[in-house]
Amino acid sequence: MCKQNTELKVKDILNCYQGKEREIIPILQQIQEELGYLSEEAMLATARFVRVPESKIYATATFYAQFRFKPVGRNHVAVCRGTACHVRGAERILDILERQLGIKEGETSQDLEYTLEAVACIGCCALAPAITINNQEVHGQLTPKKVAELFPAAAKGGN
Ligand code: FES
Repeated sequence: MCKQNTELKVKDILNCYQGKEREIIPILQQIQEELGYLSEEAMLATARFVRVPESKIYATATFYAQFRFKPVGRNHVAVCRGTACHVRGAERILDILERQLGIKEGETSQDLEYTLEAVACIGCCALAPAITINNQEVHGQLTPKKVAELFPAAAKGGN
């Protein structure tokens, strides 16, 4: 997404609010929903809009785990590291995904195709080891073969 588009989107979002300090969190949530993360420019624009120091926006955003400060890939792959998944080989699955996607845990591929993260229990322990993609698809009882089948383009070096 080019910078101009990003600025316009942030402007559109801010125009839906009154500029009150109590709107900081909803504004940040909406920006993240639209852009996928909170850019420095977006946080600065928010600070100016609600007339608070930028440090207050940073303090608020960094307090909540829901906010991201880097772009996220179109495919957000979350590997469960909860107890059941850990016992059933989550680390191996994570290893395979790191190799297959060409990124380490916590990273996003340069083409913004994939973000790989390890997370706590995703609530489907009977399917361990499990992952989610974009918080929508759950893939369980994973094996190295199943992982390769899930990301065929990445396996061919399409990343
Ligand atoms: S521990 Fe992985 S789904 Fe619960």
